[in-house]
Amino acid sequence: MKSSDISQTNAPNKDVQARVDAYIDNQAQLDLLRFITCGSVDDGKSTLIGRMLFEAQLIFEDQVTSLQSDSKKVGTQGGDIDFALLVDGLAAEREQGITIDVAYRFFNTDRRKFIVADTPGHEQYTRNMVTGASTADVAIILVDASQGILTQTRRHSFITSLLGTQHVVLAVNKMDLVDYSNQVFDEICAAYEPLQSQLQFKSVTAIPLSALKGDNVIERSRNTTWYQGPTLLGFLETVEVRQSLHDHPFRFPVQWVNRPTSNFRGFSGTVIAGEIQQGDEVIALPSGQTAKIEEIVLFEDKLDKALTDQAVTLTLDKEIDLSRGDLISSIEQPCGVSDQFEAELVWMDADEGYVGRNYHFQLASNAANATLSEIKYKYDINSLEYFSGKSLELNEIARVQIRLDKKLPFEPYDECPSLGAFVLVDRYSNATVAAGMIRYELRRASNIHKQSLSVDRESREKLAGHKGKVIWLTGLSGAGKSTIANAAETVLHAQGFRTYILDGDNVRHGLTKDLGFTVADRVENIRRIAEVAKLFLDAGVIVLTSFISPFRAERDMARGLFDQGDFMEVFIDASLDVAETRDPKGLYKKARSGELPNFTGIDSDYEVPESPELILKTDELSITEAADKLVDLIKSGIDR
Ligand code: ADX
Repeated sequence: MKSSDISQTNAPNKDVQARVDAYIDNQAQLDLLRFITCGSVDDGKSTLIGRMLFEAQLIFEDQVTSLQSDSKKVGTQGGDIDFALLVDGLAAEREQGITIDVAYRFFNTDRRKFIVADTPGHEQYTRNMVTGASTADVAIILVDASQGILTQTRRHSFITSLLGTQHVVLAVNKMDLVDYSNQVFDEICAAYEPLQSQLQFKSVTAIPLSALKGDNVIERSRNTTWYQGPTLLGFLETVEVRQSLHDHPFRFPVQWVNRPTSNFRGFSGTVIAGEIQQGDEVIALPSGQTAKIEEIVLFEDKLDKALTDQAVTLTLDKEIDLSRGDLISSIEQPCGVSDQFEAELVWMDADEGYVGRNYHFQLASNAANATLSEIKYKYDINSLEYFSGKSLELNEIARVQIRLDKKLPFEPYDECPSLGAFVLVDRYSNATVAAGMIRYELRRASNIHKQSLSVDRESREKLAGHKGKVIWLTGLSGAGKSTIANAAETVLHAQGFRTYILDGDNVRHGLTKDLGFTVADRVENIRRIAEVAKLFLDAGVIVLTSFISPFRAERDMARGLFDQGDFMEVFIDASLDVAETRDPKGLYKKARSGELPNFTGIDSDYEVPESPELILKTDELSITEAADKLVDLIKSGIDR
């Protein structure tokens, strides 16, 4: 029975009711196949989905009427029905994630239920494909028969394999444009062969199609008598897909804490793996506390057990520390908890990603601060070879290491996708900049414990007679950072304060002499300096740092290392004109003549601080005035 049958159920008679019941029963029995369609723009993706929905008679009458009249008005098919319009029309109802744009459609045949994730085909929409593919059993990779295998085909195949999708349909579309040529089809299959052998799919099924004309979509085509394989729908109806996570250890991320009355405290969510019974002992992660399942509640009912994919509320036999984002896990085979991972990352933002930079990290309903700590290698998606790099550009895919500021429950993506897939979000633009798949936990740092020392920061500060502080000077080259830092330190030193200046030009002769002035190198430069400043603070010293530190992300990262009050950002503000006129080292001149690439203010950005503790306008203040203001700021609140 098709879903269109249900539209006849207006009259409440018994016969119809029985049919509806039978339909619902039948539906409940059908297994579910999730698939994704991916292709370049104009490969005919929307037409293909529209054709499947239409031919499976899944479009309601009024939609067909409007489709026919729309096609006449705006269609690209000269009055024939334009199936792309159908899908694009439905696209208005697209689900909106953070910045993810994937349209899910549901349909069924007598044999199966289907969810199809339709993802835009533009290069920059790789991220949408990642979202759609992360739950897909089958990926339909569209190839335009008249164009053959493109870079985009390789990219989609590669991402599909990273995401663990096991079955691929190489849908060779627009066969009508190549006269249904067996030779063209064979050539495309042969061109895909090398990719196929490297990517370890369980199956790759090539099907010659014309979504526009309907060949081999649902009905076997008379135009391709040389083709013996299944039709597209026939394949989708029969392909055997992976088992769900029923046999996996129990995993239950808490979506919300349910407290309708003061004597009921339940944890609501969906069982994403395994099953749970009343009385089972469980462990809450990351806290590690244990308890027993008291009740499994579904609306008004109490269940003995809950299975994978069931949404339930669990109550425990004792009060433990559990909140949204935490995980209730099997105690025999608990989920991993870690703050460092090796992962595959698909970079999805026009702004590059840099080693050492911080991002907002989101895994299931958990969030943390993440640092991209290492790019091990990047993949060349054409040759599938590795290459190295310090930054990630739009659409690049890399093996990376990620460090978090706290431990989170996770699982390798291959074992449990919903606990192994994460996104990185830019803190300033809120754009989702990367999607990642955790491969494994890194244990290195967990072997290193902090050594507790008898003399601590407070005792050092007592001896000095004042507190330590980090004064972070930022501004253009030639703005006056080093000059003002030097003048202020001279005053403080004369008054008996313990001080130190970390200055760009000096530190770059030693600690950071391996670094240049690319964005990636500046990110690393500031990361090191921030860490060193932290050690100086622990030594009880007033440390002045004098670095251009052009990027907000790294200055905020530095601030994030310190407690409030210990870190002060001071913007040494001189306009580019003024700094360039001063040009104390003759560098602006060189930069203007092209001798010095990546020069701040010329061909490398300087991001003005948004809320520094102090702004010193050096084109208005004398050096002494500026230094005095700085000394006043430093001396406020440092008494011991
Ligand atoms: S930062 O951007 O990484 O913070 P840093 O403060 O360490 O830079 O170094 C800046 C100093 O290096 C400048 O004062 C200047 O003397 C010198 N320099 C050499 N090349 C460049 C460049 N391309 N851009 C900026 N400064 C440069």
